[in-house]
Amino acid sequence: MIRDLITRNRSYRRFYQDIAIERETLRELVDLARLSASAANMQPLRYILSCDSEKNALIFPHLAWAGYLKDWPGPGEGERPSAYILILGDTEITQSFGCDHGIAAQSILLGATEKGLGGCIIASVQREKLRQALEIPPRYEILLVLALGKPRERVIVETVGADGDIKYWRDSEGTHHVPKRLLDEIIIG
Ligand SMILES: Cc1cc2nc3c(=O)[nH]c(=O)nc-3n(C[C@H](O)[C@H](O)[C@H](O)COP(=O)(O)O)c2cc1C
Repeated sequence: MIRDLITRNRSYRRFYQDIAIERETLRELVDLARLSASAANMQPLRYILSCDSEKNALIFPHLAWAGYLKDWPGPGEGERPSAYILILGDTEITQSFGCDHGIAAQSILLGATEKGLGGCIIASVQREKLRQALEIPPRYEILLVLALGKPRERVIVETVGADGDIKYWRDSEGTHHVPKRLLDEIIIG
């Protein structure tokens, strides 16, 4: 079960933009993050939810997509995410968020996968522009943006080839290929 869920939980970057995600669904996903591990149980993460087209349009321009796909500027109108969850760190609780936000992101994305949705963790964010667009107070550090939607692309995992190239790529039919290193390569002792 967990292997299947993790295998299906790929980074999706093209969506059926017209398939809406309810705010309540986003709340359920954040509840999975709420239940997840947190260093010293400080629980410093805060979340901003977006599932309407006006707010989504404020977020989208400040995200960078698929750096390895040089000829692809990111999802076009009609295939953009229908929702976002911003993961913020409350600097009044701590200045160091460790890997809390990575764990939260994974919990949320696994939950989304279980619901037949998909998404992408985005760390390449123009943070100050996004802060201004959403009027996020300085006390909150913008850690990650999770793009969410009903996936409109096929993503397959394969093994890194003999050339060792880990760059994901897209074939002529639009299928996105993600090379993963072999288990014996990553277990070193
Ligand atoms: C911390 C982190 C930051 C990421 N930032 C971006 C990003 O800014 N833009 C993007 O398109 N993908 C981003 N990704 C997605 C990765 O490119 C993706 O995980 C990788 O290509 C492997 O694909 P997979 O998630 O399907 O295994 C990020 C992933 C992680 C874990």
